[in-house]
Amino acid sequence: MVKSKYHYVCQSCGYSSPKWLGRCPECGAWDSLTEEAQPLAAASRSYLPAAQGVLEPKKLSGIAQQEVGRLTSGIRELDRVLGGGLVRGSLVLLGGSPGIGKSTILLDAALCYSKKGLKPLYVSGEESEEQTALRAKRLGGGQAELAILTATDLNAILQTAQKMKPDILIIDSIQTMYWPALAAGAGSVGQVRECTAQLLQFAKTTNIACLLIGHVTKDGTIAGPRLLEHMVDVVLQFDGDRSYNFRILRALKNRFGSTQESGIFSMEAGGLKEVANPAGLFLENRREGVSGSTIGALLEGNRPILAEFQALLAKTPYGLPRRTAVGFDYNRVNLLIAVLERHLNLDLGSYDAYVNVVGGLKAAEPAADLPVAAALVSSYRSKSLPALTLLFGEVGLTGEVRKVAEPERRILEAYALGFRNFIVPKGRLQMRREQVTEARIYQAGTLAEAIGAALGSKDK
Ligand code: TYD
Ligand code: MG
Repeated sequence: MVKSKYHYVCQSCGYSSPKWLGRCPECGAWDSLTEEAQPLAAASRSYLPAAQGVLEPKKLSGIAQQEVGRLTSGIRELDRVLGGGLVRGSLVLLGGSPGIGKSTILLDAALCYSKKGLKPLYVSGEESEEQTALRAKRLGGGQAELAILTATDLNAILQTAQKMKPDILIIDSIQTMYWPALAAGAGSVGQVRECTAQLLQFAKTTNIACLLIGHVTKDGTIAGPRLLEHMVDVVLQFDGDRSYNFRILRALKNRFGSTQESGIFSMEAGGLKEVANPAGLFLENRREGVSGSTIGALLEGNRPILAEFQALLAKTPYGLPRRTAVGFDYNRVNLLIAVLERHLNLDLGSYDAYVNVVGGLKAAEPAADLPVAAALVSSYRSKSLPALTLLFGEVGLTGEVRKVAEPERRILEAYALGFRNFIVPKGRLQMRREQVTEARIYQAGTLAEAIGAALGSKDK
């Protein structure tokens, strides 16, 4: 039987089919299959000769334990998220939406590595050498010895790198690279996968650390195949709202360190600056004593960040009330409103409700439930919370307040910023009284108790 040279590959999950389909049976995406050439090796796969000899497993004790060499850039937030520095021979993928600052952070890192005497090679498939140099100048490192290249042929790039032997190879966007032996266009699943596989092999055989930039699609996943995330050692995600200047770097996967770490930066005219103490970053420009506003503590990685939650209730002009949420899950707003109606006997059915997390922050953590619920009631009663009050806790459907991770760290961080009233879930707190001498900590078992502590009883 003659096998076709072409097949159809789903651009969102990598599923392959011999004929075109309107909908991918694997991931359900519509119109996502495009024609690609068969990988060359595929035809011969089933005719592999029998393995020669038997493999020999080693005893754990017999394997030489080497300290992994880590390359530090001196950008502490980046080094920390990488688990203490970049590991030689590792393959790191940095994902993020367009314009968020991926090229900026990696070029900045390249400049820093170069200043420390390491040899990075920065390859851009998107910008000319002049553009990259201009950006480097903007970052204050125009004079460095950094090697820059504009190219998209990965084969040529790897051969160049093999000859030059850099310590670190940076590829500015895997989606612009192509492997010449493959007929598909750059950015297609086939190319992205092949290029990553080639880079993986390159990194492991040469012991050069490779940093790849990957674009992110609208729904927030790294464009092309998710398979890519399985191939690399470390997946970093660069997040933030483009209308604001803060950026958060997270590790979604790290074979050499924890995924609990996060790095917080602010985007300035001269590039990204580290924010060493981010807890109070989002509280600037805040007015005290207004109704519909509360402060909650969220965990970003394992660092507490204080955020302002705002809610506005307004009489519904027509029958059906509107609910909108920015920076908070819309469905959770509906859930909290239902819980408030049922367990606090509030009549919210005739009110539109708007919820907003200030500063472009996305509060995905359940600990944000309590501050949101309190902000809703505060707006409903047109009554503000006492000054310097901090809340956090998950709200359950039966009206209970549930525990969240690391209450002590949230309290201590807020205490250091001047907060004195705390409304938190019930549970033993593992901290010494001397650490928070002036704090009044109210432990609420139910939402009704928490609201009572924050805003007093209804008739007042
Ligand atoms: P960039 O790194 O090009 O984004 P990505 O590679 O993720 O697409 O960042 C682009 C944005 O960053 C751009 O809108 C301008 C801004 N920026 C600054 O504010 N200050 C700077 O020093 C630099 C280099 C960029
Ligand atoms: Mg870029």
